[in-house]
Amino acid sequence: MTPIVHFSRRYRLSASHRLHVGTMSEEENYATFGKCNNPFGHGHNYVLEVTVAGPVDAATGMVVDMVALDSLVNAQIVERFDQTHLNMDPLFAEALVPSTENFVIEVEKMLQKSVCALGIRLVRARMEETSNNSFDLLPQEPRERVVF
Ligand code: NI
Repeated sequence: MTPIVHFSRRYRLSASHRLHVGTMSEEENYATFGKCNNPFGHGHNYVLEVTVAGPVDAATGMVVDMVALDSLVNAQIVERFDQTHLNMDPLFAEALVPSTENFVIEVEKMLQKSVCALGIRLVRARMEETSNNSFDLLPQEPRERVVF
């Protein structure tokens, strides 16, 4: 069987956000999000770690063209979100709370389509929000909630 190698690369972007649900009262928002509901927002130095997987190319000995992966992630994600206020991005401006859970879901959706062009699969997207908090999306995992 052909060995499949996983390759991970990290990208950095700084952005601010405010956790707020428009349909909830000020009190409910504060009770739900605490300081993260501060009207002025707050910033994070996000680290996006992208993991791709595929067979090793016989000619190059590599699983992916790293320069091509960089240009794709930089163009689609870093340049779009770095030094921005996430709440003002069309992705979040309407009704989607720019929590890092939702952020990593949107980023994975955007990248999943484009990495196909490199002949590989995206098998994990991780967004680190702080040194304590990180959010992983494993696309092959079931998307539905498990009911016990
Ligand atoms: Ni935050």
